[in-house]
Amino acid sequence: MGTARRSIRTLVFLLYLSSNVLADAASTTEFTFLGFRGNQTEIQTEKAATIQQTDGLLRLTNRDHNVTGTAFYREPIRFSDRSDSKVLCSFSTSFVFVIIPSSPGNGGFGFTFTLSPTPNRPGAESAQYLGLLNRSSNGDPSNHVFAVEFDTVQGFKDGDDRRGNHVGLDFNNLSSAVQEPVVYHDTDDRKEDFQLESGEPIQAHLDYDGGSDELNVTVYPTRLGFKPATPMISRQVLNLSEIVKEEMYVGFTSATGKGQSSAHYVMGWSFASSCGADPVISNWLNVSLLPRPPRNVSGKKGYDSRVIALIASLSIVTLFLLALLFVFVMYKRRIEEGEALEDWEIDYPHRFSYKDLYLATQRFKESEIIGSGGFGTVYRGNLPSSGPVAVKRITQNSQQGVREFIAEIESLGRLSHKNLVNLQGWCKHKNDLLLVYDYIPNGSLDSLLYAKPRRNGIVLTWEERFEIIKGVASGLLYLHEEWEQVVIHRDVKASNVLVDAEMNAKLGDFGLARLYDRGTLTQTTKVVGTLGYMAPELTRNGKGSTASDVFAFGVLLLEIVCGRRPTNTENFFLADWVMDFHANGGGVLRAVDQKLGSSFNGREAKLALVVGLLCCHQKPTARPTMRNVIRYLCGDEDLPEIDGNLGFSDSAREDLRSNVVCNVSSDRASSSTTFSFSTEVSSGSLGNGR
Ligand SMILES: *[C@@H]1O[C@H](CO)[C@@H](O)[C@H](O)[C@H]1NC(C)=O
Ligand SMILES: *[C@@H]1O[C@H](CO)[C@@H](O)[C@H](O)[C@H]1NC(C)=O
Ligand SMILES: *[C@@H]1O[C@H](CO)[C@@H](O)[C@H](O)[C@H]1NC(C)=O
Ligand SMILES: *[C@@H]1O[C@H](CO)[C@@H](O)[C@H](O)[C@H]1NC(C)=O
Ligand SMILES: *[C@@H]1O[C@H](CO)[C@@H](O)[C@H](O)[C@H]1NC(C)=O
Ligand SMILES: *[C@@H]1O[C@H](CO)[C@@H](O)[C@H](O)[C@H]1NC(C)=O
Ligand SMILES: *[C@@H]1O[C@H](CO)[C@@H](O)[C@H](O)[C@H]1NC(C)=O
Ligand SMILES: *[C@@H]1O[C@H](CO)[C@@H](O)[C@H](O)[C@H]1NC(C)=O
Repeated sequence: MGTARRSIRTLVFLLYLSSNVLADAASTTEFTFLGFRGNQTEIQTEKAATIQQTDGLLRLTNRDHNVTGTAFYREPIRFSDRSDSKVLCSFSTSFVFVIIPSSPGNGGFGFTFTLSPTPNRPGAESAQYLGLLNRSSNGDPSNHVFAVEFDTVQGFKDGDDRRGNHVGLDFNNLSSAVQEPVVYHDTDDRKEDFQLESGEPIQAHLDYDGGSDELNVTVYPTRLGFKPATPMISRQVLNLSEIVKEEMYVGFTSATGKGQSSAHYVMGWSFASSCGADPVISNWLNVSLLPRPPRNVSGKKGYDSRVIALIASLSIVTLFLLALLFVFVMYKRRIEEGEALEDWEIDYPHRFSYKDLYLATQRFKESEIIGSGGFGTVYRGNLPSSGPVAVKRITQNSQQGVREFIAEIESLGRLSHKNLVNLQGWCKHKNDLLLVYDYIPNGSLDSLLYAKPRRNGIVLTWEERFEIIKGVASGLLYLHEEWEQVVIHRDVKASNVLVDAEMNAKLGDFGLARLYDRGTLTQTTKVVGTLGYMAPELTRNGKGSTASDVFAFGVLLLEIVCGRRPTNTENFFLADWVMDFHANGGGVLRAVDQKLGSSFNGREAKLALVVGLLCCHQKPTARPTMRNVIRYLCGDEDLPEIDGNLGFSDSAREDLRSNVVCNVSSDRASSSTTFSFSTEVSSGSLGNGR
């Protein structure tokens, strides 16, 4: 019996021993990954985590924002004995990692080494939850997770005052129970701090002794070449046993933030655990056998090129919008200035910008006014492009008829004759119309004839006067007959004849009357002209004709020869006055300007006076055409019976008497009423005339 009992006791003891030995053997685990190429079966990666086949690195997250990634060893690891759950198995682990921030100083969030009841972390959140927990599970004892966190975020704001670049111990709660800034102890046991997110490989050691509950954490850059003797964290973690289940999975979780992100890599990993003894580490992590660290692209490439592309495209869009805005503003400004170009508007004659003319005339300064008349005010101007110009400013009453007006300008711009003032161009600004002419230095004929101190001391000699007469006649002939359309001047007078430096006459303001005709410039004034130059028929029908131009020319001719104004307040009428000389016995030459003395050509003077009288014929149909006038003046066609000495022959005089004298006398009889009448009907124009 005794031996049997003893043998049973021995058997039980042996069984107990062997079970203990078996249990010990089963609870020892050891593995080492020198890189992870080909280890998908051993490592379970989820979310952003992946094993990079090209370089063998385990990448926990890329640099995308707001992502998580987990990587766990597939096999569960025994952490406590069935017999005594209070005593945990010892374990040691070491890994080499690299954190590459999206831009220096803006990395985030971090990663953890985790003991977890599952080989993944379902429902875990990014950013401060590090892919480990979420806001509702954080701090919950049922999580059964223990983690060592490697957090890189500075100024973490979650109600907790976390420091960046730290290592912490998390018990079911990401608000670390223990946290320390990252340092290593050098050979002299001095603390050296360094950055987790520097982009360089960093090695971490975790050593836990199940007997004493002591956990050491040591972190240092691999370039150091050795493991510092003093750990960064050395703590008793008494309640780890409350968290850790019998079997746990070991691995990594990681996350990036919304604003901050880093790529997190693990280059190699060793783990060993042993229950009831020190962990046996036979094949410890050898850094020189690890794959090459990831390229340090911190602040470069990827992120950068995307940012650059974004900035570039934004700039292009911005530039485009600015250009659109610019075009729009310019267009609007042109509209506002009344200068909008429309398809019906013309290129010829040249269209000036209002600004140029505004500056050229010194802002339409009063001192720059060189004339004013029925059609507007004339300013002297100086254009950088074309030198001195005369700018006529016509203020319209309305915008109506602009189209017709422009068409008119276009036709006037094509008129070109040496005895016409050249129209250089035009400009329309609001209700103003600006016409740009050549500047004629000697000014108008009437200033030369009458100015008291004669301008530049010029005395008009007979030759000059006769040339001027022929010049004006030639200009009028061009308007009446030689251009493609008949242009009626309607305001031939001394002040509209300009004299250039070579004493050539240039007729100005031609054609403008047609605008009045069409009612485009003013709606009210139909009758235009200047007192003394207006043909009698104008006061009756108001219609200008070439014949009424001839009448005004006749008056002008007499004015040039006689040096007297066509009319004055005392019922003086130049044509009548000359007719009197002519009629009363051939002393017509006494009508010639006294200022000339005897220095004139008598034959030419007589010719001129008679032509003038012919032009002043009461009946429009009896007046010569401008072509005839020129032929008479040039001697190409004989005036009726002109002989070289005394002027008219008797017969010719009789002709003239019947044709001219009667009419002129009848004209004289009616002249006063005629002019008062015309003054009334055309006061608008006459008031502006000078
Ligand atoms: C990792 O994979 C390689 C190649 O398949 C293999 O040789 C090695 O043993 C694996 N490592 C572990 C720890 O399983
Ligand atoms: C972050 O990702 C989670 C899902 O992974 C999503 O529910 C959440 O809205 C994201 N947050 C931001 C700010 O994008
Ligand atoms: C938080 O995580 C737990 C599991 O750890 C999961 O059951 C729960 O649905 C998650 N909550 C949210 C809001 O994602
Ligand atoms: C997590 O830990 C922090 C700090 O230790 C504590 O203030 C907080 O209450 C804990 N959260 C939970 C849910 O226990
Ligand atoms: C990685 O790049 C960043 C920024 O260019 C630099 O500050 C850092 O020192 C680099 N790290 C290494 C290990 O070269
Ligand atoms: C922790 O480090 C200390 C030295 O600082 C050492 O004495 C102790 O044995 C270490 N404990 C473990 C579990 O490695
Ligand atoms: C674990 O113990 C530490 C003190 O050693 C305590 O601060 C912490 O709250 C405990 N955690 C749990 C989950 O009991
Ligand atoms: C690490 O590996 C290299 C190359 O195989 C070898 O020379 C060295 O001795 C190893 N170091 C350790 C500590 O095993």
